[in-house]
Amino acid sequence: MEAVILHGGQGTRLRPLTHTGPKQLIKVAGKPVSQWVLEQIRDAGIKHVIIVLGDNIPTKVTEYYGDGSRFGVEITYVYQGKARGLADAVYKVKDVVSDKFLVYLGDNIVSYDLRRFMEFNGSASILLAKVENPNRFGVAVVENGKVVKLVEKPKEPISDLALVGVYAFTKDVFDVIEGLKPSWRGELEITDALQGLINRGKDVNYEIVEGWWKDTGTPKDILDANAFLLDKYAEKRVEGEIENSTLDGRVIVEKGAVIKNSVIRGPAYIGKGSKVINSYVGSFTSVGDNCEIIESEIEYSVLLDNVKVKGVALMDSIIGNNSIVEKGKRWQKLIIGENSSVIL
Ligand code: G1P
Repeated sequence: MEAVILHGGQGTRLRPLTHTGPKQLIKVAGKPVSQWVLEQIRDAGIKHVIIVLGDNIPTKVTEYYGDGSRFGVEITYVYQGKARGLADAVYKVKDVVSDKFLVYLGDNIVSYDLRRFMEFNGSASILLAKVENPNRFGVAVVENGKVVKLVEKPKEPISDLALVGVYAFTKDVFDVIEGLKPSWRGELEITDALQGLINRGKDVNYEIVEGWWKDTGTPKDILDANAFLLDKYAEKRVEGEIENSTLDGRVIVEKGAVIKNSVIRGPAYIGKGSKVINSYVGSFTSVGDNCEIIESEIEYSVLLDNVKVKGVALMDSIIGNNSIVEKGKRWQKLIIGENSSVIL
């Protein structure tokens, strides 16, 4: 059995972070979103992973994951080329999967037992969750334990059960995708492929996710996913140097990091080689590798790698790789990329 991670998309709602790479590589709680997905797949016993690459600097993905051996899996890469929708991305794996395979959107984080999910019968199975805003998702109507209808981004309220981005298929789906027409948004929809299976009399099963899940499409989603993953997985682990500082609760300090004259309140993550000096790092904050946090306070935020922060108080913030945030004496001097947001 194989697992397919879809790693494409432009990530427009996450600009400027996605100007320099795919959204699935944004690190939350110390790891790229798609690495959380990959490790969940590996831990469910699936060792062959196929990553479908989009056209937003795919070499960053192949460089990060390599052949997969560093993560305990074997990775095959497939290029989608021009993005034509999720069903088109799934079609690209036609010749590399065996009869049953898992498809996981690489920007979703879903707490669910994948082993159990892959024991499905029928032609396909989907994970569903009750949502308050079904018009943002694909939704499914279920009757007597079977999925009877699916609609992508429904205008009329027909169901509050959303597809959460985890699907199980048999090879039956490829015949359906061959006959699909693009939707109103110009994409071959995975939701329409599932509907096509039903139209051909095939069974589509479902399971309901009761716990937490997240589609990390927006900055707020990234912050919430970071908080959730820290809360669920962070265990106290200190491998860096601590000098005259207080670490409260579940704080991870990676190798080569230095915490000096500071307070860190868990759950929180401090990456390799980062320095925290005369500062406060509050709960639900992740600091990437080689950052410098000097005379600052930071809470419920994500700092990616090589970020320098001096003399500021930040909350609900995401700071991209290699950025500097420093308080000026009177005038703030800003060099800001496209689509940034700064509140001073
Ligand atoms: C995609 C799917 C949608 C699904 C959602 C889950 O939406 O098309 O059916 O509910 O992922 O995150 P998109 O991210 O393209 O808006």
